[in-house]
Amino acid sequence: MGFLYRKLIRRLLFNLNPELVHDAVIKGAGAAQNLPFLNSMVAMMTRAKDLPVTVAGIKFRNPVGLAAGFDKNCEAARFLSGLGFGFLELGTVTLRPQPGNPKPRLFRLHENKAIINRMGFNNAGAWEAARSLERLLPLAVPVGISIGKNADCSMEEAPRNYLETLRIMYALGDYFAVNISSPNTLQLRSLHGGEKLRRLLAPMLEFAAGQKRVKPFFVKIAPDLESADLESAAALAVELGFGLIATNTTVSRTAVAARWQGHEGGLSGRPLRALSNEILFKTAELVKGRVPIIGSGGVSDGASALEKFTLGADLVQVYSGLVYEGPFLVKEILGYLDRHHWRPRRH
Ligand SMILES: Cc1cc2nc3c(=O)[nH]c(=O)nc-3n(C[C@H](O)[C@H](O)[C@H](O)COP(=O)(O)O)c2cc1C
Repeated sequence: MGFLYRKLIRRLLFNLNPELVHDAVIKGAGAAQNLPFLNSMVAMMTRAKDLPVTVAGIKFRNPVGLAAGFDKNCEAARFLSGLGFGFLELGTVTLRPQPGNPKPRLFRLHENKAIINRMGFNNAGAWEAARSLERLLPLAVPVGISIGKNADCSMEEAPRNYLETLRIMYALGDYFAVNISSPNTLQLRSLHGGEKLRRLLAPMLEFAAGQKRVKPFFVKIAPDLESADLESAAALAVELGFGLIATNTTVSRTAVAARWQGHEGGLSGRPLRALSNEILFKTAELVKGRVPIIGSGGVSDGASALEKFTLGADLVQVYSGLVYEGPFLVKEILGYLDRHHWRPRRH
């Protein structure tokens, strides 16, 4: 079935503007999820054997999730949950709606099975995302909600901006991903620094601790980090008890042709794999199993997923792989993991 996508559907879709296709897919999935028969047919075709795992106190039917940025407004979560994923990370959501960067801002690097994006957190805002998601819950799989900062919010105001979004979304997520690693929001990545990260995280963790259900947090880190920043983020994760997502997209262009140098934004997909794995491995060495890690960056088949587990990931996520390999990717990965006797790590 994956073959059909790659030979036929991808060829068709890749003739069209990338953002147009993405928007159409989300709108189409949003409409299709209201048709129970279609939904269960798709779910039947894409469902693989369960490989259950418990991470951060959450039970997942399998360890392969959808990465943030695919369904920014939580519009198509029910349909997406039917594609075999063990979990979905929705968003990134910001407090207020914002248009993101000027178009074009999404590029396919077909020869590398990669994507460059400088979307800039285009989204309908937290209230709209909450309204959409509320309609779709409960879902068959756990949901993470990725939270980011409004572009017009100063760095001093950032902790409040994130906290307000968290308050709006808190009841709806099973975990929260704090996105400090998009390269497309000015200065966002400076939040990796130890004290800044503590000032950002502490109020959110405090808020969560005061709720009836205390939910887990993950911080999504950049693959372009200096060692010192990675070390302080890992130390803070262990101290405060949040997990890490390694990694977001890269600003490096060393793994792609020179003509892409001038394209600003984050690079994802195959050329990100090695860099992202290096950071994943370093992160795992630093946290030594004391907090969970989600691996993201360059997963496009079973082998690249298994590699992340071997390097220390407890869960993995896909984005670009889904675009290039299609809706049967999760089933393919899970089949591979099962054949290679994948077992959850023990903490
Ligand atoms: C078009 C696009 C938009 C993205 N938007 C977000 C986002 O809003 N928040 C986020 O945390 N990551 C975002 N990402 C990063 C992905 O979640 C993922 O971490 C990254 O693409 C690496 O995984 P991949 O190689 O499987 O694509 C985006 C990626 C792409 C390609």
